[in-house]
Amino acid sequence: MAEKKLTKLVNKEIANFTVLYTKLHNYHWYVNGPHFFELHKKLEELYNEVTADMDELAERLLALGETPVATLKQYMEMTTIEEATGSENTEDMVQSVISDFEKISNELLEIIEVAEEEDPVTADMLTGMKKSFNKHAWMLRAYLSK
Ligand SMILES: [Fe+2]
Repeated sequence: MAEKKLTKLVNKEIANFTVLYTKLHNYHWYVNGPHFFELHKKLEELYNEVTADMDELAERLLALGETPVATLKQYMEMTTIEEATGSENTEDMVQSVISDFEKISNELLEIIEVAEEEDPVTADMLTGMKKSFNKHAWMLRAYLSK
């Protein structure tokens, strides 16, 4: 049987969250300057949240009898998130996280619409995640505003 539309879309976010997990670690390690301590700590909070979300989505698919993607090779083929470049300054890092969170929020909105028809429980989970990404993006935008 062909993979369900919802499974395909959720798998893309599993890939995105995994790539973000590494990207947030990259920034957590390489951020520097006068805001090092606050950003180092904030980025840790964010990577912990995205990996918990990733696990929750994968286990939801399993509970539905579906198959979550589970290799880095597949994640890199499916993701819509650009990896860290290694040349970002602190402001670029925060801006890149904001853009990624906004992109994921938009993708989640699309998936929520599909999930509302196919599986309302998954729609509810995705809505909670979207709410949190929106809040983090707002806070990071406020952080960058001068
Ligand atoms: Fe750490």
